[in-house]
Amino acid sequence: MQSIEEKIQDLKRERGAIIIAHNYQPDEVQAMADFTGDSLELSRKVAELEEDVVVFCGVHFMAETAAILSPEKKILLPDRFAGCPMADMITAEQLRAKKAEHPGAVVICYVNSSAAVKAECDLCCTSSNATAIAASVPAGKEIIFVPDTHLGHYVQKELGRENMIMWDGYCPTHSRIRDIDIRREKAEHPRAVVMAHPECPLPIRDLADQLLSTGQMCAFAKESDATEFIVATEVGLLYRLRNENPDKKFYAVSDRALCPNMKKIDLEKILWSLEDMRYRVTVPEEIANKARRSIEAMLELS
Ligand code: 13P
Ligand code: SF4
Repeated sequence: MQSIEEKIQDLKRERGAIIIAHNYQPDEVQAMADFTGDSLELSRKVAELEEDVVVFCGVHFMAETAAILSPEKKILLPDRFAGCPMADMITAEQLRAKKAEHPGAVVICYVNSSAAVKAECDLCCTSSNATAIAASVPAGKEIIFVPDTHLGHYVQKELGRENMIMWDGYCPTHSRIRDIDIRREKAEHPRAVVMAHPECPLPIRDLADQLLSTGQMCAFAKESDATEFIVATEVGLLYRLRNENPDKKFYAVSDRALCPNMKKIDLEKILWSLEDMRYRVTVPEEIANKARRSIEAMLELS
């Protein structure tokens, strides 16, 4: 009898499909994927793929971003309820109201936002390029930054820029990481480098040695001379860090740093997704055309 992995491989070939996964996906999903990466890497990857069918193991806004960049492809999200609570913290209507209060402002949206919100923005960004994207805005211009207040404040501090208006969204997973978690791990592993994601709240960012996107953490861990790392982000990243660096040690700060939405995808759902070609994520053309401008502006700048 065929294993589920073999069934997926056969069906993938039959459908001309590719499986891509975010760095927070469950271990077995990452092991099954053809490509694993952070939000920026996945956006770039989808845009250059030859395959017509993409099984996107991540959350809804990521599949939507892929559908915006490649409307001709079938982008399948194996669990249609895999969403992102932070992306749901702002609607297009709320953003339009905020823009009306600041008519001259440049609007930057974190990629963790809906297509409808992206359609209202000038520039998109991810955690790996947010500072560079904001730096491209002339100093005299106000910036409205949505929806992640922590990433926005991190960028503001990096650039020493006053005129930024932040939305008050946040990632519930990164908000569960506490400063005492970092202090405890530092006390136990005094030589370890603390890598934190900029979605973390300020007390965590203040304790970090490096503030990095998940893809940047993988690159940093590989290149660094350090052999021990405290990892302040969603626990799924530990799989990749440990696999790619078998001689180095990685300590998760807390098992509460788990994104339940990222964990909704499993091998059975990938198989069903390929069997039934579901759940296809599409974006209405008018919204997609507007949203694409902000994503392409980001890709050109990064
Ligand atoms: P990156 O993979 O871009 O660092 O983003 C983290 C995240 O929270 C995605 O939901
Ligand atoms: Fe959204 Fe946070 Fe989960 Fe990323 S980790 S998908 S930001 S809830």
